[in-house]
Amino acid sequence: MAISNPTLTPAWLALQKHYNVMKRRSLSDLFDEDNNRFDKFSYKFNGIEIDFSKQLLVENTLALLFDLANQMELEEKRGDLFSASCVNNTERRPALHVALRDLSKRKYLVNKQDVAPIIRETYERFIEFAGNCVTGITLGHTQKRFEKVVNIGIGGSDLGSKFVCSALSEFSESEIEANFVANIDGLAINKVLADANPETTLFIICSKSFSTLETLANAKVAKKWLISKLGEDCIKKHIFAVTSNQSSAISFGIDSRNIFPVWEWINGRYSIWSAIGLPVAISCGPSVFKRFISGAHKMDRHFETAPMDQNLPILMGLIGFWNRNLCKSEAIAILPYEYKLRFLHEYLQQLMMESNGKGVNKEGESVSLKTSPIVFGGLGMESQHSYMQFLHHSPSVIPSEFIFSLDDRGKTNQDEIVASAIAQSEALMRGLNENEVSLVQDSDFIKHKVCRGNRPSTSIMLDSITPENIGSLLALYEHRTFVEGVLLGINSFDQWAVELAKKLTLDLLKGINYNDYSEYKINHDSSTNGLWNTYLSSKRK
Ligand code: F6P
Repeated sequence: MAISNPTLTPAWLALQKHYNVMKRRSLSDLFDEDNNRFDKFSYKFNGIEIDFSKQLLVENTLALLFDLANQMELEEKRGDLFSASCVNNTERRPALHVALRDLSKRKYLVNKQDVAPIIRETYERFIEFAGNCVTGITLGHTQKRFEKVVNIGIGGSDLGSKFVCSALSEFSESEIEANFVANIDGLAINKVLADANPETTLFIICSKSFSTLETLANAKVAKKWLISKLGEDCIKKHIFAVTSNQSSAISFGIDSRNIFPVWEWINGRYSIWSAIGLPVAISCGPSVFKRFISGAHKMDRHFETAPMDQNLPILMGLIGFWNRNLCKSEAIAILPYEYKLRFLHEYLQQLMMESNGKGVNKEGESVSLKTSPIVFGGLGMESQHSYMQFLHHSPSVIPSEFIFSLDDRGKTNQDEIVASAIAQSEALMRGLNENEVSLVQDSDFIKHKVCRGNRPSTSIMLDSITPENIGSLLALYEHRTFVEGVLLGINSFDQWAVELAKKLTLDLLKGINYNDYSEYKINHDSSTNGLWNTYLSSKRK
């Protein structure tokens, strides 16, 4: 039987021993001892170069992590991912995001049936639809060209498209602007509608389940708004859906020809490559979307075939595991130094925390190690004026991931931006001791000004922000997340824990018409009843 507890492997014991030696060393010592760290620990794949040299590791660290990967059967499990095996064991299905970006003739068998043709057929259909919107072949109810596409969706049905549309806007071959509505607070959709012309606005209801509270509430508002402006008939020209729940979309009033499928074996947070990415294909153009998925496919091939010691997702995953479970860091900071990548940390937050925020392994036993770190972040140039103090000074050591591009096209202040990213990683690594303080500031309150340094970081450099590189970057993070999941013995593809609060919300709402919520007999605790009663009484005032 496959091992699902890393602490039972010989490699784990060896890693612990090794860490006990490494923890006495500092990053700046490692740099002082070895001038070649950058060359030794930097890796390139196509337009992406990653520098791991500011991580607390030496060659032996990686060797021991490779042993752990072998003992946790990483290569076999990677094979399972690509061969459509049931990697998502609790939902009894494969996770086939890699198939979405594979336009070769490779087969992906689900219940003995090759799903590649249906993926390809759907891809061609939505790409054609996107192209027709862009060129004006597909028009709105009053024969006007679309100027706005509004994505109504949340989580994996929102964050990917929102990120990619802003990352790649400069490549856009389309006049259609993308807007995103995720929040159920009516302010969000009303703000978008206030600026929209119904005749030229297309809505895409993205919801794999077509049962998500927020999405359905917003979809109803959009439908009502359209009907009030253009009449019932306009729906078939202005509302499309992407879902695996076709019947609910039809009951909602969407024409069956306006529905693009996603499938059970595509998880929400891995779905940007499917028709869920339609807003990207419409607002950037189909050829940009094709380049985006081809970049991801290149990363898939690299992940599937490159030896471990050259394999970027594997190296990133192993180092992530090292930081989380040996160095015991609670969080990681995602710090893009690139305005276009301003939504990246939100996307990665869902990807990493929903995938690996698990308390049991694949067999349902409590995990013996820490699983996903807390993922947070934001634009580096802005973060350095808010929470970077914490990253430099707090006793909690949080590894950072700096992401920037070398290309200055379409940007101003590129020198300052790149210099800041690199300087931050240097400052985190090296710190500032008491003797050095007086070189940069006056020496009052010297202890407050000392930075202990020794804070690890990874720098990811893109030669340019291109559709291919953005595709590769997201696939890199997807596979790194998978690698970390394998090392922990967990299922990275389910998300059962999100269901409980959804159910409790509906329970509370059932009591909305009671004067005193405790009359509504459900086993809530006194806090929950008290809070809801307080709300109900304030509502009735
Ligand atoms: O509640 C969490 C979640 O199910 C995510 O996994 C998913 O990406 C998001 O909600 C949206 O779900 P759907 O696409 O089914 O509306």
